[in-house]
Amino acid sequence: MLRRLHSDQPTSFAFTPANKAWAEAQITKYPEGRQQSAVIPLLWRAQEQEGWVSRAAIEDVAAMLGMAYIRVLEVATFYFMFQLQPTGSVANIQICGTTSCMICGAEDLVAVCKEKIAETPHSLSADGKFTWEEVECLGACANAPMAQIGKDYYEDLTVERFSEIIDELAAGKVPVPGPQAGRYAAEPAGDLTSLTAYEAGKDDYNASVRLAVDIGDTVKRIDGTEVPTTTPWLGGAARPAAVAPKPAPQSVTPKPVAAKAAAPAPEPVPVGDGTRPASLDGPRGGKADDLKQIKGIGPKLEKLCNRLGFWHFDQIAAWTADEVAWVDANLEGFKGRVTRDTWVEQAGVLASGGATAFSKRVDDGDVY
Ligand code: FES
Repeated sequence: MLRRLHSDQPTSFAFTPANKAWAEAQITKYPEGRQQSAVIPLLWRAQEQEGWVSRAAIEDVAAMLGMAYIRVLEVATFYFMFQLQPTGSVANIQICGTTSCMICGAEDLVAVCKEKIAETPHSLSADGKFTWEEVECLGACANAPMAQIGKDYYEDLTVERFSEIIDELAAGKVPVPGPQAGRYAAEPAGDLTSLTAYEAGKDDYNASVRLAVDIGDTVKRIDGTEVPTTTPWLGGAARPAAVAPKPAPQSVTPKPVAAKAAAPAPEPVPVGDGTRPASLDGPRGGKADDLKQIKGIGPKLEKLCNRLGFWHFDQIAAWTADEVAWVDANLEGFKGRVTRDTWVEQAGVLASGGATAFSKRVDDGDVY
């Protein structure tokens, strides 16, 4: 399948503040020079926020990671999990079309999609609420046929039930995920012959469905406020203190959802206020240094530095700790990068006419 960027692109993309804090925290997981390892989590979060990955989102992620756009585009176009075209405002329905599901009726489910959503996959329904696609085995073969809708699985589907589910979603309800034909989980459809003492009745839902119902974000676009950002690798809280309360999914068989405590606001990466370093109105002699020779500074960050009046290695090399704190706090979208990527140290080498391992790679054309 040819995977290209969609012909109709938004002019811009921006993470929500909470998603941005989350993304910046993810980047700190990786050692210096390896920040690009965060490319998949950041692209995924962009898709969770917008429903798909646009060119602007790819460019934003590339800038955050100091990567060439083409490198991020390669990742986004390689993995089928990234949607490169707008998806339904309510849900993109993924029908499993692999063996178990196929012999149990997946083709009939696809027919429902064609009738109720659009004739072809990846096409918006007339009301813009849905898209659909056929995907490979989703690992719920014992409950075939099934579909993933949003973040959850709807299993043991029949044409009638699947059709109802789409109607309920269109009406703003979120049907309870899991088996749809009366099974608790993946036990035999007939009488049990073994494991007869499973805890049926203790909870109406199996563990997966219970979690889906409790979290309640089956088809919700993620804006980052769902769970507080934590940075255990930096000594922050290892686990969220609590999951933010959410309304219970509306369903044909609504179940009470236990109230949860309010979650604290996301914790930004700490930065100090500091003192603004001396800046220049423009480059001396009209010629700026190539700040991209400093590892961690990409084209976007270089432009931001120039806007703040920083054009030369010797300017950066002279920053005091207090000044570093100011710059770290004022790199919109890149907070904390000066410290994390040791700009001052690198700039000191470059300002004195030396070269770093990274700047040599730039000179050799190995950095794109
Ligand atoms: S074949 Fe459909 S989930 Fe495995």
